[in-house]
Amino acid sequence: METQYSSLIQNLKERLNTCKNENELLKVKSDFLGKNGLITKEFLGIRNAKDKKYTGQQLNLLKKQAENLIIQTSLEIQNRQVSVDAIDISLPGRNVAEGTRHPISITINHISNIMRGYGFRVEQGNEIETEFYNFEALNIPPNHPARDMHDTFYINAKNLLRTHTSSVQIHTMMKTGVPLKIIAPGKVYRCDSDPTHSPMFHQLEGLYIDEDINFCHLKGILEKFIMDYFQKEIEMRFRPSYFPFTEPSAELDIKFRGKWLEVLGCGMVHDNVLKNVGINPEKYSGFAFGLGIERFAMLKFDIRDLRSFYENDLSFLRQFRGLT
Ligand code: DAH
Repeated sequence: METQYSSLIQNLKERLNTCKNENELLKVKSDFLGKNGLITKEFLGIRNAKDKKYTGQQLNLLKKQAENLIIQTSLEIQNRQVSVDAIDISLPGRNVAEGTRHPISITINHISNIMRGYGFRVEQGNEIETEFYNFEALNIPPNHPARDMHDTFYINAKNLLRTHTSSVQIHTMMKTGVPLKIIAPGKVYRCDSDPTHSPMFHQLEGLYIDEDINFCHLKGILEKFIMDYFQKEIEMRFRPSYFPFTEPSAELDIKFRGKWLEVLGCGMVHDNVLKNVGINPEKYSGFAFGLGIERFAMLKFDIRDLRSFYENDLSFLRQFRGLT
């Protein structure tokens, strides 16, 4: 009797091993436990058995064992299915989209790093300003013609979007006093938009105030900066100019592809500006400069159209991969 059962179990195990899916398993189940199944048939033999009770118990155990083996196989088939669904090794790999730094950020970082090397620290300013910080304290009183040149976006009667980073000069002098040596990169806004002007663009302001700072310091630092930024000998000239917040004022031109190109404004900080923030111009003096980030990025990377910076064209932006 026992050997008969064990060969039945052995037979069942072999059949289960060949099952690849639930349908095949159902077939095996019915072959053993169905109406005409091999194990079901064994139950019919009970009435001829010598010890009916014992034989019945043995058969029940056999049935239970068979059911367990079938359940176990069913679980194995399901597990196999899950792992096959989870990893389809024939699928193409998923791309990890790697970003690149924007050329404007790259340029701000590049210039800031050079300036940090000269001892300037980086200051942050506000993009929303009052007329006091953007104009008055910088020696641009109401009705001054320079205000017209700035095409200001007013938010309301009191607040405006800063038209230049020069407002950070005032904030920092009032906050930390002097001596100081700072740069302030950031966004600025003006109401004009055409192929060479964007209503939002970026500037970087510099301010160095201490005792006995003169125009030689200004020239020395800016000339060195141009060489460090472009990494080559560049012909340059300081051309007299006018800004309300500096006296004397100059613009720095560089020779680029045979032509003079204006790259920044600068000058010695006007006495009135120092007085406006409570600094004694008899004791302290200094220079300031302001440059356009877009212009420096365009020259460095040979970008011809200002609008490429703001169009979010990935094939343009991906060219800067690897730069920080
Ligand atoms: N704020 C000026 C502008 O937006 C640029 C500038 C010129 C800044 C001369 C300065 C400076 O600090 O000294 O056009």
